[in-house]
Amino acid sequence: MDVSRHDIVIVGGGGAGLRAAIEAAQNNPDASIALVSKVYPMRSHTVSAEGGAAAVARDDDNLELHGYDTVKGSDFLGDQDSIQYFVQEAPKELALLENWGCPFSRNEDGTVATRAFGGMTTKRTWYAADKIGFHMLHALFQHSMRFKNIVRYDEYFVSKLLVDDGVCRGVAALDIRTGEYHTILGRAVILTTGGGGKIFPFTTNGTIKTGDGMALAYRAGVPLKDMEFVQYHPTGLPGTGILITEATRGEGGFLRNNQGERFLVEYDYGVGTKAELGPRDMISRAIVQEIEAGRGFKGPYGEYVQLDLTHLGEDKIDSRLPFVRLLAKTYVGVAPVYEPIPIRPVVHYMMGGVDTDINGATELPGLYAAGETACVSINGANRLGSNSLTECLVFGAAAARHAMDFSAGSSDGNEAALTAQAEEEAARVDDLRGRKKGGEKISAIRRELNTVMESACGVYREQGSMQHGVGAVAQLRSRVADLRLEDDSKVFNTELITALELANMVEVAETLAVSAAHRKESRGAHTCKDFTTRNDDEYLYHTMAYHNPAGPRLGKKDVVLGKWEPEERKY
Ligand code: FUM
Repeated sequence: MDVSRHDIVIVGGGGAGLRAAIEAAQNNPDASIALVSKVYPMRSHTVSAEGGAAAVARDDDNLELHGYDTVKGSDFLGDQDSIQYFVQEAPKELALLENWGCPFSRNEDGTVATRAFGGMTTKRTWYAADKIGFHMLHALFQHSMRFKNIVRYDEYFVSKLLVDDGVCRGVAALDIRTGEYHTILGRAVILTTGGGGKIFPFTTNGTIKTGDGMALAYRAGVPLKDMEFVQYHPTGLPGTGILITEATRGEGGFLRNNQGERFLVEYDYGVGTKAELGPRDMISRAIVQEIEAGRGFKGPYGEYVQLDLTHLGEDKIDSRLPFVRLLAKTYVGVAPVYEPIPIRPVVHYMMGGVDTDINGATELPGLYAAGETACVSINGANRLGSNSLTECLVFGAAAARHAMDFSAGSSDGNEAALTAQAEEEAARVDDLRGRKKGGEKISAIRRELNTVMESACGVYREQGSMQHGVGAVAQLRSRVADLRLEDDSKVFNTELITALELANMVEVAETLAVSAAHRKESRGAHTCKDFTTRNDDEYLYHTMAYHNPAGPRLGKKDVVLGKWEPEERKY
């Protein structure tokens, strides 16, 4: 088997991975940085981000306010040390990104333009019309190419972390183009593979978001933290789930019910001032309530409400929201300048992920994580829109610095033992390729998983359906062991990759369902019909899900509190 050696190995080529690679490459120009991704980096899911990235930029804003908004948005489950570090680093990271070529939109006077986003006190979201993901990823990718010490492994699927003597020292990766396994060694590994929204049927997430990094860490014994918290974005297109950015509301768009009413003004979230600029968890719940009260529209893909931009005018739509115009026309045949866009809440983001400290370090020495894969935790029970791209930058860079330090002080480990692990993994995956003796179809399990997760862990949750979900996902996990595959070819065997992804999805889903069923309160995006209020006395802690053959074992971790005392969350 091919063996290559680097100083660190980064798994995932999106915003967090590229930022980590750049930081590591700058940190030590003599070091070799492996960047391993199952897709070409410009195809990473970061590319689909639309609305913008948050950081203090205006005179009426400050770090204190950004910190407080984020803590409050998290329903007081975010770690305040991480949040303070995040808001402090955020403006520097966005300025760097601009230096690297990200074309942020500008005010008339040449300063960086910022727009309003939900749950933020002031206009704090830097944007590039409504294509921030494309521009950000492009700037990062182009900048990364200046560094000869970044060695890319494009279209390599990592299926196992290699651990020797209690330290993570590399990965086993399948070269999708050839079907051959490679041992990619490094004295530290950073996971930046994004979230796993594809465990749900209706999501803004691209097909590639199958929870791979989370599953890799989990199987290696690292706990997944706060997995019960799944963000529904209020405005996805029915049918496809394609994101219609929150920037539409930031720029003045309204939500309307089938009476033509701007119903969010009636949902006062406590103090009644935010309407369309409330936080995502609250707006998603309001939409579901509106539909359940019979005020939704009926459509071929279920009920929906409308996002009305018609009063913004064509010029504003074309300058600020051109991509929304294109998406609405292409995918639902609607011209937003003249008619409202059908929308409904859609799974968008996982607040939970691989448990890390403020430096991105996990419990497993040598293993780090950043971005949506990780739970650092700045998002707690509900993320504020536009904090996540900045999170990728801030914590991608931090994880890289600390991984580089770790790598410098660590040894290569036992190469023979590490390679033997990779060979064992290659044999396991070889056995799966074209495995005719199995009885289960990938598509059937995937569909069942989607159905179960939607009914168990939707916008509103109930103990009965969550408990049912726990049992159902456990069964699916055992069925994954009996997959039947048809394609035994080596080159671009996408069926094999789909099978590996399915195993990851099922494990991630199980941690999510088990964590959700245990939390008998309502906090942020975890809204239980049977336990309707937040219960700080019993549940002000992070849920930790540890791998266990019989299903996840749960533990607890203290929330890092600080100057912002938990209080009732009102907008
Ligand atoms: O609506 C949006 O543009 C999404 C932004 C985010 O999730 O941060």
